[in-house]
Amino acid sequence: MNLILLGPPGSGKGTQAKMIAQHLGIPQVSTGDMLRAAVKEGTPMGLKAKAMMDAGALVPDEVVVGIVRERLQKDDCVNGFILDGFPRTVAQADALQSNLADLGKSINMVISLEVDNEAVVERISGRRTCPDCGRMYHVQFDPPESADTCGECGSALIQRDDDREATVRKRLDVYAQQTAPLVEYYNNAGLLKSIDGMQAIQTVQAEILQALGC
Ligand code: AP5
Ligand code: MG
Repeated sequence: MNLILLGPPGSGKGTQAKMIAQHLGIPQVSTGDMLRAAVKEGTPMGLKAKAMMDAGALVPDEVVVGIVRERLQKDDCVNGFILDGFPRTVAQADALQSNLADLGKSINMVISLEVDNEAVVERISGRRTCPDCGRMYHVQFDPPESADTCGECGSALIQRDDDREATVRKRLDVYAQQTAPLVEYYNNAGLLKSIDGMQAIQTVQAEILQALGC
């Protein structure tokens, strides 16, 4: 199953992608996580991307299209994948379609998580992330068992550099201008399934699995 998770910052893409990936035994392919790994490693691409990410802007289409094209050719994607945070522009969606066609593949479903802007700000300001295994927590909605420590791997939890309120609001503007048109794009392609992302994490998960027929 080849899936896309679409939704504004903080809508729960990463949280749900991890659960679906585990459930279906397919990898989560998150461009945000791949870019943050490049920043951490200090690669030339990571150094350039960091300034754009910290400003809440998108990194150039050709950069992300290239890293996703390479990632989808890895062996673990042979039975499917779940794209989290990609595509984010119509140009990225067009490039994805053409790159998948070259591989003899196509997208089966696009799940759009719908969440209002104020909930996003509340969710992101309370988010804590494990820098080692990538597990996300929320101080109120999904707290770690032991304060500031990852329950999966024991590392100290951090807040992302782009999670300050002003940057979150900029990311929401960028989403409205550049990414929201993909809802209509995939609806017109007959691939869109909208899910109410304002519900509890487990309820959203159950609705996604139902939509997938699992
Ligand atoms: P990226 O890492 O993709 O960030 P984002 O899209 O802004 O989304 P987030 O990761 O902030 O939120 P999420 O939807 O994953 O929510 P989460 O599950 O964590 O991108 C970061 C940057 O990288 C971009 O700004 C850009 O610069 C660059 N980039 C990445 N991809 C790119 C691309 N394709 N093109 C160009 N540039 C790109 O949940 C949030 C919080 O809420 C957590 O604390 C969680 O515990 C909690 N939560 C989740 N679900 C619920 C729920 N149902 N109820 C209550 N709380 C919940
Ligand atoms: Mg995420």
